[in-house]
Amino acid sequence: MIGVFDSGIGGLTVVRALREQLPGYDIVYFGDTARAPYGTKSPKTVIDYANEIIAFLIAQGAQLIVMACNTVSSVATATVTEQFSLPIFDVVTPAVDQAVGLGHRPIIGVIGTRATIASNIYERKIKKLRPDAKVHSKACPLLVPLVEEGWLQKPETVMIVKKYLHPLKVRQVNSLILGCTHYPVIKKVIQRKIGKQVHIIDSSLAVAAEVAAYISRHPELGAGIAKHNRLELFVSDITTQFKKTAQMLFKQHIQLELQRL
Ligand code: DGL
Repeated sequence: MIGVFDSGIGGLTVVRALREQLPGYDIVYFGDTARAPYGTKSPKTVIDYANEIIAFLIAQGAQLIVMACNTVSSVATATVTEQFSLPIFDVVTPAVDQAVGLGHRPIIGVIGTRATIASNIYERKIKKLRPDAKVHSKACPLLVPLVEEGWLQKPETVMIVKKYLHPLKVRQVNSLILGCTHYPVIKKVIQRKIGKQVHIIDSSLAVAAEVAAYISRHPELGAGIAKHNRLELFVSDITTQFKKTAQMLFKQHIQLELQRL
């Protein structure tokens, strides 16, 4: 099974992308709805949560882990890759690879949670590969609660997105990294407000492409993962909103299992 996790609903955008790029592969998902959001927590707390969840997913049969959360990827990647021996994917690296691979002179906008932006991981990784790149980052702490609440098209959401993106627009970014897996859910609003000429890099699509490429380079791993198109969804708190958004994303009836860690 492919194990995927996030603080809540956001990682489902990664599940959706994985199902498109690796059709049929069984997936086990954990959404830590009882402890979300992660973006306002300290790195130490987020690392502890990540360790617990990865151990749980391995116990469920995960053979490969996708940390479908930029906040976790920003602060916990080094610790968990040392701790566990199975392949673990973060969402930051594939998005950075895409951003620096774009032909034009990169003026890159990055939006994410407070923890992700405070870690400065995107700027550090981008500058390492493209020292000539300009990076402008902006924390958008209100967007995760709005997505979790299902306020996807409300005028208030559009207004808040516009306000957050204004400084990046002024600096004329030519690409924008969605550095939070919740943001693809409101990608249309973001694209409209940043302008259609700006190339949006969706970390959920980027990581799914990376996992698919890894599996094709390691066919023995791919052959060992069951392909019954199963999707097991565990959450640490069952909320009607999680169910509603999951159903909207997958266009199918969703069954949630409660798992407290
Ligand atoms: N989807 C998570 C991320 O990518 C949201 C973090 C949060 O819970 O604040 O950062």
